[in-house]
Formats: sequence, C-alpha cells, structure tokens
Amino acid sequence: MKKVYIETYGCQMNVADSEIVFSILEKKGYLRTEDISLADVIFANTCSIRDNAEQRIWGRIEQFNIQRKARPGVVVGILGCMAERLKEALLESGKVDLVAGPDAYRRLPQMLEAALEGHPQIDVMLSREETYADITPVRLDSNGVSAFISIMRGCNNVCSYCVVPYTRGAERSRDHRTIVREACDCAQKGYKELTLLGQNVDSYRDGEVDFAGLLGLVAEAVPQMRIRFSTSNPQDISDYVLSTMASHANIAHHIHLPVQSGSDRILEKMRRKYSRQWYLDRVAKIREIIPDCAITTDVIAGFCSETEEDHADTLSIFEAVGFDAAYMFYYSERPGTLAARKYPDDVPLDVKTRRLEEIISLQNRLSLESNRADIGKRFTVLVEGTSKKKKEELCGRNSQNKMCVWPDCDHKAGDFVEVEVLDCTQATLLCKLV
Ligand code: 5AD
Ligand code: SF4
Repeated sequence: MKKVYIETYGCQMNVADSEIVFSILEKKGYLRTEDISLADVIFANTCSIRDNAEQRIWGRIEQFNIQRKARPGVVVGILGCMAERLKEALLESGKVDLVAGPDAYRRLPQMLEAALEGHPQIDVMLSREETYADITPVRLDSNGVSAFISIMRGCNNVCSYCVVPYTRGAERSRDHRTIVREACDCAQKGYKELTLLGQNVDSYRDGEVDFAGLLGLVAEAVPQMRIRFSTSNPQDISDYVLSTMASHANIAHHIHLPVQSGSDRILEKMRRKYSRQWYLDRVAKIREIIPDCAITTDVIAGFCSETEEDHADTLSIFEAVGFDAAYMFYYSERPGTLAARKYPDDVPLDVKTRRLEEIISLQNRLSLESNRADIGKRFTVLVEGTSKKKKEELCGRNSQNKMCVWPDCDHKAGDFVEVEVLDCTQATLLCKLV
C-alpha cells in the first residue's frame, strides 16, 4: 500500500481541504504517513495569498526533490491555491509530478495512479458546483477537540488585492443538511468545538437557509458543542447573524471582521464595499447586541498609493475599535489581480514595513489592554491540552477565542472548565480554576 504525506499551508480552509484529500485517498487504499522519508506520495496543499507564502513553498519543493532524487518513483504533487495559480509552470519546473487545483480532488486517485507510473498529471479546472458535500473528512488534528466544517467554497467578492477568487473560483454554498449531518457526526466522535468555514460566510445561501439560519440549525443540532465561524465580511454581516449569536448560548462570542484599511480612499481602491463609518457602525451594533463579543481583524499596510494620512486612518480605526487581536500584513502584489493590472505597487518596501511595524506595536498595546480588562472575570474554557510553557498547566480558549492557562492536574483535553483571570500577558490570560 502506498503512503501519502501532506503538508498544509495557508488558511483553515486548506486544513479542511487536506482532510477531504485524505478521505478520498484512504477510500482507495492509500495510507497516511507523517514521516516524509517513508512516503511514496509527497503533497503540499499550498497558499498563494502573498508572495512570501509562495516562496516558502518553493523552498519546500526543493526539499521534496531531495527525496524524489534519492528514491526514484516518489511522486511530488502540488495541491490548492498555488497549483491553481501557476498551473503548467509547476510541471515545467521539472520538480513536480502532479498539479491539482482545489476543485480537482475527486480525480486525485486516478491522477496518482498515472503519476506513480511516471506520467505527469495536471487538473486545474474550477467548478461551479463542487462542494465535496458527500465526503466525510478524515480529521487531522490530534487532540480530537476541535473540527473544521467547510460550508462554502470560492469567493464572489473581487477585492482588488486578492488572488482567492482566481485560485478558488466562484462562490458556492454546500447543502445545509450535509453540514448539519457532519456537525452531528463530529459530536458523536467526541469533538467539542466546530468552526464553520468560508471565505465570506455571510453570503452563504442554500435555498431558504441563509448563514444566520444555518448557524441556528447547527447550534441547535449540537447543543453541547461550541460553534465558531470564519470569515465575516463587514458589508454582509447581518443583524440576524448577531441576534442568532446572542440567542444561542453555544455560539462563541467572537467575530473575525477583516477591516483591511481605515481609509475610505484606500477601501475604495481595494474594492471593499464598505466605508470606515460603516465598519465602525457594524462594530457598535455587534457590541450593542453581544456586549462581550471579541472582535479581531486583518489589515494590509502599504496598499497601492497609500499615503501617511491613509496610514494614520488605519491606526486610528484600530484605536477606535480596540481590536482584541489582528493578523497584520504588508501589501504583496499578486499577478493577475485587479490591483496588479490597474495600480502601481508604489509604496517602497521600507515604508510598508515601517507602517506595518507601527500597526503591530499599536495592536500589541490594544491586545494587552483587552486582556487587562478581563482580569477578575470568569470564563468557560475548552481545554485543548497541556500548556506549552509549563507541564503542570493546561491551556484552552474561552468563548472570545483568547488563550487561557491555569494550573490543573484534574482535567483533560475536551473538558469545559470554569476559570477566573488573575493576570495576563499580551497573548494569554493567566487564570485559576474556580
Ligand atoms: N497582500 C497582503 N495581504 C493580503 N491579504 C489578502 N491578499 C493580500 C495581499 N495581496 C490578507 C488580507 C486577508 C488575509 C487573509 O490576507 O488581510 O484578509
Ligand atoms: Fe487560503 Fe487564500 Fe491561501 Fe488559498 S490563497 S490557501 S484561500 S489563504
């Protein structure tokens, strides 16, 4: 039996996709291995979101080729976004035997059979229908606590900087009944937390069921589980989603709401469909309906033509919202996107990195302030395992998705426990059991 090794890069969607890939291959008799030196098939499930993500993967492809040369017959395959973006160029590099885009995974067994016989394979067709709805993923995380369920694929927004609509194709929602069934299956297998995944979950629609409806159905189907979701788009997140969150005790109080920029001029160039004021109004609404909701964000520093004034608008929106956490990047031009075709990438690298550093140091302070405000509060935490720093401490996340640690030798991964916050760092709440 052939052994398959997969490395997964990029977002949680890719993790969910690797789980689907394993499921498809296991049905055809392939075995999974975590030891690359034993693998007959080496896959990288890849990300194209920024140039440095791709550069890292090219570095890994070089490493894979050491195996490929040492053990003739080993197949190296590139899956996911980079496969879709670079297509034949990957085969032409001579370092890859198989290239499969995100909608081609059902064909992997056939493709692999041919590739293992020495025939290079490529399938980068995107689909309008494929959701892999009928495939039960092989869950890859080892603690058995938290599972991802992908509820839709693709993206119909055309944010001018973003490669995703090109690599993942048009948006399609998965049949809601298969999602509820998968949630129940996870509960039965002992999982305690679900994250519903989509590039833009608020535009989910399956007949009469919109995202708020789906969220309610899942929360009610698995009342003992904690439900999360990602990613929300500021222009689309509805009051109905917020009221559904407020009315179900098991939906986590956390919204990831990428802001990208605080400047109206830049937001328009980015083709985001909201303004600074709209974003601030959404935040106010979230806090009105769910007062203890954590709000996290993504931001891009140094987008085309960004001035010091635009940058100051970004800093000020961070200050105004007081994000609990943020993923922060500087702009990386992606070939083929609207921005690459229309606007020069004209903010010098040193300016981009300086602005990014300013945002990061501001966010460090905001994260610390957000954590300090939790001192003295009590939270229900889902235990993930032993803390990285101390063996006699457990770690886990509260509803707001903040990492908590506390001394404990009585509980285990998957337990819900009550803790009180005694102190904090910028990244962690230091707690005791109550
Ligand atoms: N350059 C830098 N960051 C980007 N993102 C998306 N495209 C780019 C790009 N070209 C960021 C956005 C998005 C997150 C997943 O990655 O902030 O929300
Ligand atoms: Fe995920 Fe986007 Fe990276 Fe693709 S390009 S893996 S969708 S983050």
